[in-house]
Amino acid sequence: MQIKLNKVANDTNIFLRNFIKSQKKSPLLDPIIYSLFSGGKKIRSKILVDVGSIFNIEYQKLIAVGATVECIHSYSLIHDDLPCMDNDDMRRGKPSTHVKFGESTAVLAGNSLLTLAYEILSSKFFKKVDNKIKINLVKKISECSGHNGIAGGQFLDLSFEHKKISKKKIIDMEIKKTGKLFSFCCAAPLILKKRNKNEIKKFEDIGADIGLLFQVADDLIDYKGSLLVAGKKTGKDKKKGKATLIGLLGHKNTIKYANNLIIKINKKLKKYGSNSNNLSETLDYILNRNK
Ligand code: IPE
Ligand code: IPE
Ligand code: MG
Ligand code: MG
Ligand code: MG
Repeated sequence: MQIKLNKVANDTNIFLRNFIKSQKKSPLLDPIIYSLFSGGKKIRSKILVDVGSIFNIEYQKLIAVGATVECIHSYSLIHDDLPCMDNDDMRRGKPSTHVKFGESTAVLAGNSLLTLAYEILSSKFFKKVDNKIKINLVKKISECSGHNGIAGGQFLDLSFEHKKISKKKIIDMEIKKTGKLFSFCCAAPLILKKRNKNEIKKFEDIGADIGLLFQVADDLIDYKGSLLVAGKKTGKDKKKGKATLIGLLGHKNTIKYANNLIIKINKKLKKYGSNSNNLSETLDYILNRNK
């Protein structure tokens, strides 16, 4: 699994480096490069490749779409760490972007990364794809990033601090802030393949559950992990009064909840037989990782 993930991460990085090389230089490139290539797992691209392989999509197209997702993910992390958000000074074992480059530069690098996703999707680097399909991808990825996606979920995450929040609302918040981008990753291969709306929706739902699983695992790392391995400070969710399933249900029940999520997702994948083995393997990695 780690070898496969590293390959996807490498290929995504090569794509992104080539794209950035084709652009005019600017002073914001330093913080952009710092946050894009500082050792993120690129797990979202891996999910895209896993689902893409079920539908026989050309690998390089999946890498291009994955690159756009990683730009949006990187932006979301830069902003997530800002003093006005989670106020975290470590990310991936290094100073957070705003600590290294200053707050205003970090905000603007984040804005540029969000935009970079669309620059890529509308460029000649995203080859052999109809314009109609490109528009559908833009529509879906923007929905997943905006006020009903990442931004909306981050708003809820912050407004839930130090409050008693129901399980349903916590799940809704986690799906928005993290799950939606995974929804996009699971839907994108079907959009590329022009599959019907119902099938696309099914994969969006699978993606939301995978993203929820991913965020629950991230919360578990915060609960029991260490800075040295995770590359970010741990034990912060409790200190900040974040609403998490661990806070509400306890550690053991949260692990049970996550295992049940994997069972639920695998049931939905069953009809794809061994073609979905890579994706199932990635699900186990997501829950059992320690960074
Ligand atoms: C961390 O995401 C933030 C969450 C959405 C939970 P990742 O764990 O994917 O971060 P990197 O890119 O691998 O550092
Ligand atoms: C971050 O969740 C979610 C997004 C960036 C959208 P967290 O705040 O838990 O992520 P970490 O733990 O700082 O990586
Ligand atoms: Mg946060
Ligand atoms: Mg955070
Ligand atoms: Mg976290």
